[in-house]
Amino acid sequence: MSALICGSVAYDTVMVFDGRFRDHILADRIHVLNVSFLVPGLRRNFGGCAGNIAYNLKLLGGEGHAMATVGMDFGPYEAWFRANGLSLQYIERIDTQYTAQAYITTDLDSNQITAFHPGAMLFAHRGRVPAGAGIGIGVVAPENAEGMIEHSAQFVAAGIPVLFDPGQGLPQFDGAQLRRFIGEASWIAVNDYEGGLLAERTGLSLEQIATQVEALIVTRGGEGSVIHAGGVVHDIPSARAATIADPTGCGDAYRAGLLYGLQHGLDWPTTGRIASLMGAIKIEQHGTQNHRFTRADFTARFRESFGREL
Ligand SMILES: Nc1ncnc2c1ncn2[C@@H]1O[C@H](COP(=O)(O)OP(=O)(O)OP(=O)(O)O)[C@@H](O)[C@H]1O
Ligand SMILES: [Mg+2]
Repeated sequence: MSALICGSVAYDTVMVFDGRFRDHILADRIHVLNVSFLVPGLRRNFGGCAGNIAYNLKLLGGEGHAMATVGMDFGPYEAWFRANGLSLQYIERIDTQYTAQAYITTDLDSNQITAFHPGAMLFAHRGRVPAGAGIGIGVVAPENAEGMIEHSAQFVAAGIPVLFDPGQGLPQFDGAQLRRFIGEASWIAVNDYEGGLLAERTGLSLEQIATQVEALIVTRGGEGSVIHAGGVVHDIPSARAATIADPTGCGDAYRAGLLYGLQHGLDWPTTGRIASLMGAIKIEQHGTQNHRFTRADFTARFRESFGREL
């Protein structure tokens, strides 16, 4: 049962300024802001929700394809897809655009200034959900609004159950649009903040939303996650991380665990713990696709983390 993961495929460039923005951005001068930061540290990472989820699902041995539109500069990312055995079947290149990319400058206080260029991602709706291609699960993760709306509806039309994962795409939708996504979804995954925003925009409580889907999953960073399914609330503990290098992408790693559990018909307590351990493994590395493990590592760490066998 292969997953089709609709969402962004993007480059993330992270630059570390070894000073403090507040020493350079002066409150009484912001009407003529013109600052330049020397950034000795620079990392360029492969990212985007669909790329990240597909990468994590592959690590677990699950089956999936990212679906996204990318640009003329996709070459290095394509090589990464190939080197890691990720599917390029639903990746479309648009030669007049750049691949979506974020430029993130952080300072010593962990403040961030980010510029995001959507580029080819603005054409995400060009990808169509195929019927009869052996896709068993759909994912609607952040991309352009039109893409999210159309892909969700196309999954339903093709009879493919959908995991709705609105992430940072959530604020662009109003209550009616969000209620429609909820109606189309079989599962919804949000973090704490997004859960609050979803409830506020739709006028529905999380308990009410949970009754409309097979499962509503709310992640809470280092405090673990909660899965509301079939009238039961499963509390999923977080797994201990050896170091906290970079929390970006924990949500995507977690979602790959959800997909793996769904693909293998696992119960929610097990699926949630796989997802949770994925988040903890991810947080130990910088970037969103720089962690790796073998099946044996994962099984051993699952036992250590939760005191039970996988
Ligand atoms: N400090 C941590 N220690 C252990 N596990 C963590 C930690 N932070 C996150 N996780 C795991 O990852 C899951 C997802 O994290 P989180 O709730 O922060 O997602 P998110 O806010 O969507 O993250 P992002 O969008 O930055 O990827 C958590 O439910 C938890 O299981
Ligand atoms: Mg997230």
